[in-house]
Amino acid sequence: MSTTAVTARVTVKSPEKMQELGRRLAPLLRPGDLVLLTGELGAGKTTLTRGLGEALGVRGAVTSPTFVIARVHPSLTGGPALVHVDAYRLGGGLDEMEDLDLDVSLPESVVVVEWGEGKVEELAEDRLHIVIGRAVGADAPGGGLGGHPEEDADDVREVAVTGIGARWADAGLADLELG
Ligand SMILES: Nc1ncnc2c1ncn2[C@@H]1O[C@H](COP(=O)(O)OP(=O)(O)OP(=O)(O)O)[C@@H](O)[C@H]1O
Ligand SMILES: [Mg+2]
Repeated sequence: MSTTAVTARVTVKSPEKMQELGRRLAPLLRPGDLVLLTGELGAGKTTLTRGLGEALGVRGAVTSPTFVIARVHPSLTGGPALVHVDAYRLGGGLDEMEDLDLDVSLPESVVVVEWGEGKVEELAEDRLHIVIGRAVGADAPGGGLGGHPEEDADDVREVAVTGIGARWADAGLADLELG
């Protein structure tokens, strides 16, 4: 049996809009969901997660976990906790993740993993894979955006949100494209 996948594509033109995308994604998430974030350094993974945390109503600011691999943000509103993982330095994958001994139940939390591709997929059969890329042509002379002075081409990101598995088949991902 093949695994179903649905993808929503969104163009995001500023850090504020990236945070807003996170806020718009939050209502689609449920306890036990796994979200993988892929994108180069500075792509906007943490910025998106910050918006998620805001709209989930969790405690503590979402920041880059420099000295810790994972941080648990408990819900202030009776919803799921947000577990924010930076797997950049997580070499061994899931074993190390389990060794983190997080004081929280993953099936009752929303787990967001930066740099988690190829490392933590086993945590959940279904998952949301968000890929953040720089806009094509961003390096072109004049910005590659038709020269709109108010838009900095370096700030434009193309975001692909792919829901993998039955969990995401009718979860309303396509609405993210409506902006
Ligand atoms: N459209 C955009 N979306 C998100 N961030 C943007 C955008 N345009 C510019 N930025 C800037 O890019 C940086 C993104 O930083 P962020 O920490 O979110 O990246 P990251 O993908 O988590 O990086 P790392 O891999 O180091 O964890 C911020 O400084 C932000 O202001
Ligand atoms: Mg980050």
